[in-house]
Order: sequence, then C-alpha cells, then structure tokens
Amino acid sequence: MKKIMSSLMALLLACQLAHAQETIIVSTKNLALALEKDADNNLVVAYFGQKLAMADEYRKVRPLDKYKPGNDDLFNRREAYVTGGSVNLLEPALAVTQSNGDKSLVLHYVSSKVNRIDANQTLTEILLTDPQYQFEVKLFYHTYENQDVIEQWSEILHHQKKAVVLNKYASACLTLSGNKFFLKNQRNGWGQEMSPEEQELLHGIRTIDSKLGTRTNLLHSSSFMVSMDGPATEDEGTVLAGSLEWNGNFRLDFETFDEYYLRITAGVNNYASAYTLQPNETFTTPKFVYTVSTTGRGQASRNLQRWARDYRLCNGTKDRLTILNNWETTYFDFDDQKLSHLLDDTKTLGADVFLLDDGWFGNKYPRNGATSGLGDWQVNKAKLKNGISSLGKEATEKGVKLGLWIEPEMVNPKSELYEQHPDWVLKEPGRKEYYMRNQLVLDLSNPAVQQFVYNTVENLFKEVPQLAFIKWDCNSLIYNAYSPYLKNQDHFYLEYVRGLNSVLAKVRKQHPDVPMMLCAGGGTRVDYKSLEYFTEFWASDNTNAYDRIFIQWEYSYYFPSIAVDNHVTEMGKQPIKFRTDVAMMGKLGFDLKVHELTPDDLTFCQQAVKVYDTIKHLVWHGEQYRLQDPYNNKVAAIAYVSPDKLEAVIFNYYVSTKFETPINLPIKMKGLDPSKKYSVREINLYPGTKSPVNSEPTYSGDFLMKVGFNPEATARRTSVILKVTAI
Ligand code: DGJ
Repeated sequence: MKKIMSSLMALLLACQLAHAQETIIVSTKNLALALEKDADNNLVVAYFGQKLAMADEYRKVRPLDKYKPGNDDLFNRREAYVTGGSVNLLEPALAVTQSNGDKSLVLHYVSSKVNRIDANQTLTEILLTDPQYQFEVKLFYHTYENQDVIEQWSEILHHQKKAVVLNKYASACLTLSGNKFFLKNQRNGWGQEMSPEEQELLHGIRTIDSKLGTRTNLLHSSSFMVSMDGPATEDEGTVLAGSLEWNGNFRLDFETFDEYYLRITAGVNNYASAYTLQPNETFTTPKFVYTVSTTGRGQASRNLQRWARDYRLCNGTKDRLTILNNWETTYFDFDDQKLSHLLDDTKTLGADVFLLDDGWFGNKYPRNGATSGLGDWQVNKAKLKNGISSLGKEATEKGVKLGLWIEPEMVNPKSELYEQHPDWVLKEPGRKEYYMRNQLVLDLSNPAVQQFVYNTVENLFKEVPQLAFIKWDCNSLIYNAYSPYLKNQDHFYLEYVRGLNSVLAKVRKQHPDVPMMLCAGGGTRVDYKSLEYFTEFWASDNTNAYDRIFIQWEYSYYFPSIAVDNHVTEMGKQPIKFRTDVAMMGKLGFDLKVHELTPDDLTFCQQAVKVYDTIKHLVWHGEQYRLQDPYNNKVAAIAYVSPDKLEAVIFNYYVSTKFETPINLPIKMKGLDPSKKYSVREINLYPGTKSPVNSEPTYSGDFLMKVGFNPEATARRTSVILKVTAI
C-alpha cells in the first residue's frame, strides 16, 4: 500500500512538473521571483524569496506548496497579477468592466521575453491575454542585480469595439508566504513626518492609502516594510521594503489569507478614479519598487538607497549645494536691504546658495502673508525695488548663488491669477470653496494650466539667468476635487498627476543640472516618482534638531541622505553644535540670523561647513548603517562608510531626556573591513573645547565591529562626530 501511494505521489509530481513547462525566473543577486503557467494557463507565482543556487529547482517548489492545481482551492491561487471576477474572490490588482458590462477578467499566459539592458539590469516582459475578450496585459519586471531591487508595473490594453472601464489598476501584487507578517509604516502629519508604527497583519485587509490628491503623504508614507515570521531588526530577519513610485493618490493593500499567505497589492488609488480605457489605448501603471533582505532592515535600506542614487533620484550620483534659507528668519518680512545682507551672510558662512523663500512676488495683492498673491509670479516691487534679476547679479558679485521658492500649482483667491482665470481653479460647481492655507489648487489636468506652470518656471530662468536652485512647494491638498476642464471627472486625480509630471519633465529637460527641492508644507509628498525630477526634499517644517533625529532616522529606511534637506535653525533649545551635527547627517543647510550669532557660534558654523566638505561624500554617496536607534538607547548612532571601506563617519547623539548615569557601552560599528586598521578621531568640535576621545590608538575593523567604540556622548556632550580612517 505504501509503495502504491509513493508511486502515485511520484506520478502526481511528474504530472505537475509537466504542466509547469514554462518557468520564468526574475532574479537579482540574492532575490528570485519564479513564475509559472499552471494547468489552466494562469501565470502563478511558484516562488518568491531568497535566490536558489540551482535554477532548475524553482519548478520543484509549486508541487510542494499547499495549493496544488487540481484541487478546488481556486479562490486563493497565487496569480502573478490577480484579476477581479471569475474565480478570484480576494482583493484584485486589476478589476475591469468589459465593454459588454461583464465584470470578469481572466488572464492567460501567452509569452515572455527578457531584454538585458546592461550587466546590472534586465527587463522581463510577460504578455497575458483574456481568452474570452480582446484584452491584454503586459507585466514588466525591471531587475537591478547588485542592488537586489525589482521594479514592477503593467501595461493594459484592449481591442474591443467600445471602451472598457478599469475599476482598479494596481502596479503589482506580490504573494509572500510565512508564518506571520509584520507591517512597518510611517504615519505623517505637519511637523510629525515619519512617525513609525508597526503591527502584526492579522486576517483581513489592512489598507494604507491616500485620497489627498497633492500632499499625498500628509497622512501616511507610501513606502513600507513587511517582515516575515517576526518583526525584523536592523541586522536580522527577512524583510521586504517597498515604495510606490507615484506622486498622487496611492493604495497599498495588505491581505493575509489562509494560514500562510500575505498579498501586497500596490498602486494608484482607485478612489473616484475608474478609468475609461478606449480601444487601442495603452494604460501604463506607475512603478512599484521593492527589495528583499534576509539580513534585516539595514540591508533593505541600503539596497533601496543605492538603487535610488544610481537609477532613480535626479542627479543621484552628483554633488549638491549647501544652502542658506531665509524662511524661519524673516518669513514674509524682507526687502532689498535685508536680502543684500542675507547674500553677505551666505558668503560669510561659506554656504553655496542663498535660497529666497516665500514672499518675493505679488503686487496688486502683495505676498506679505499666506493670504494673498499666490499665483502672481511677478517680483514684488515694494520689497525688491531693484527687481529679482538684480538680486541674481548681486549674488554673483558676492560669490554666491541664488535660489528661489515657488509654489506654482496653487493660487490664493486673493490674486490676479484667480481674477483672470477662475476656470483654472479646482472647484465643485455651485459649492462653497474650501481652502487649505487660504489657497486653492490649479487644475493641472488642463493643458493651458500646465503651460502656465511651465512658463512660470521658464520666465524665472529668463529673468534671473543666474538662478541656481529651486524650491517647489505645495501647501494644499485637494479639496473641491472637480476639474472645470475635464469631461470625465473619474480621470481627474490621474490627469492632475500626469499634468504635473509632464511639466516637471519639461522643466528637467530644459534645466537638467539645476538642483530642485521638493517641498509640500514639509515632507508630505515624498516618493520616487517626484524624485525622478527633484534632487532633494524638504523633510519637515519641524527643524527641532532633537525631533529631526527621529524624522531623519525613519526617512533613511527608504531614502538616501543625499536627498534629505536639513537646516540648522533656531528651533529647539539644543546647542548649535548639536543642531549642526544633526543637519550634517543629510544635506546641510542653514536658516539662521547669521549676523546675530555669537562670535564662537559663527566660527563654529563656518568651520562646520568646511568640515562638512570633508565628509559630505560619505553622507551623500557612502553606505549608511544605523548603529543604535534613538528609541531604545541613550545615544543614537548612524554611520556612513565609503564603498571601498577606507573611510567612515559616525554621528552620535545623546537623546535621553531623563537623568542618566554617564555610563555608556561602546557602540559597535558596521560595514568596515575587519582586516583593516583604522584610526578614530572626533571632528567638528565647538571652539575652545577639547575632545576626550583618544585618537592615538588604532583599531582593526574586526575590533570596531565586535567591541565597538565609545564616542563619550553625554548630557554635556550631546553630539559627537567621529571620523574613521583606514591607515
Ligand atoms: C512650507 C514649507 O515647508 C516652508 O519651508 C516654507 O517654504 C513655507 N511653506 C513658505 O510658505
């Protein structure tokens, strides 16, 4: 009997393997996604996880999986791209209404091809079609071998006589198997960006989404981490880090099903956005980028950060400018004279660029506060009597660059723009207007408005040929979501983003090297679609250095420090050294009354800019290691190591707010070469202070990583920067 059973099992296995003639393996250095055609021609996920050593063994996985073709567990098969209707009763990635009203879509595997882009990248394209309807989907998988990163998206097309409606059109769905799943996501709010939350995903769906239109991350980040089996730590556990490359409404569904599965479906939010797809029109979803690490969150972050710098972030491998900004020191209250002093201050500090913030424009309705002038992008003649071009010239004469703030997607009702073009404003017919920060959003789905926004930027470059930096702000989400231009309001949210991105792409094409800061009343629009056009982002209006340690810590899970703008300001009561050291852990800038600094503070800041020049290549282009978190330790520490492991910089911040003994354990380094010898030296000291850190002894990388090093950060020495150099 036993013998018969085992031969039957062997036969069954053979049959199943025979069905799985086609195995498509999408893989990177350590990660693999194996896709197969099942007996019904569906494309299913056979395997997703750590790459197997033997490529021919992927086809052995599915027969061992709990759900086998042939039994009646149809409702939870593991389709590569789950469609709505027919046998799919879980959350779909793609749900449509066919031209005849049928709500079902079935996709069968047709063909696939792999295109090798270069030694590090491949693009796999898989064609699926509906056997019943003229409907096709192409799935794309773009791999980045060394970064262990995959980008996924789809193209949707049909050849039916009448339009098809796309009710949901996610970029990707991924099915993970494991015993338990834990989701880490970041909640946002003004001044509270990136507040972390972690929870076990129990049965049902957890959806994280945004319907806010513009400041789409005001409530939640669209990046996340999922750990398998238990919550991952920095260096342990299997964790997937993902981010939707979209600067509009998003939706991330996490659906656990049966005992062992989690399906992540990521894409544009379908809220009020059913898309009418005309015959032969191709709909392309945004990209969903992800990586998987089996050695904790640290590696997952480094994968995403490296990928971002090398492939996605605008000018990610290039340099950046150090800024003096005037927002927190002047707000709207400035004139030629003050600006002239600010240019001097920029030079005095040693910063590269003076960034003139909000308030330089508007005449009939001067922008002297947040209530008027937005939309009227002509220089305010009362404040800048000599005009904006003369400010550009003066900057050049003084040996600094000039940057300008704009918020071109928006309009104050108290503006000439609003008076002249009431039809350019998003507004629900007959209803009261609702404002956020006294402003309304322009209808970027309208090509005339797109042209206006583009011209706004172009005119500035014409007027100020020296213009060397742009801060692009966005302070309102979309209330009153109705486009006077569009015929089909269901397309509004999509068309807004398409309009915005086409303007940004044009600006970028015209000015490929100009650094642009992405801002949304702080960091409430931070995503990898925007960062295709922007070189950096304003992380938060909360510039309290203590809070910033946490905010910057959380951003670093997904975004590289070269993209994170940090300014030293007066906010918070920490010493200037602490504030500066925190800002140096990213893209350093200042927003200080430089001429009011004490001589020592000024000397310190000037030195800090010079010190920053010696370490910024590590912060911008090195590998980041979070050494000790600020939540559970007296001292938080983050290191950046050069790719050749010859240098590193470690930022240490004393974060305890309680009375504590000054005893601290050494902090263990990461990412060094164990066989190399290193010296450790404290840098960026405040004038007149001496470092207790003895820089005489040398240590092996092995020692620094196993035993560690004590920065001697205490309540009296609240921040310590250490430079580690191979001998
Ligand atoms: C919000 C931004 O986050 C600030 O940095 C500043 O630019 C203001 N807007 C200006 O109105």
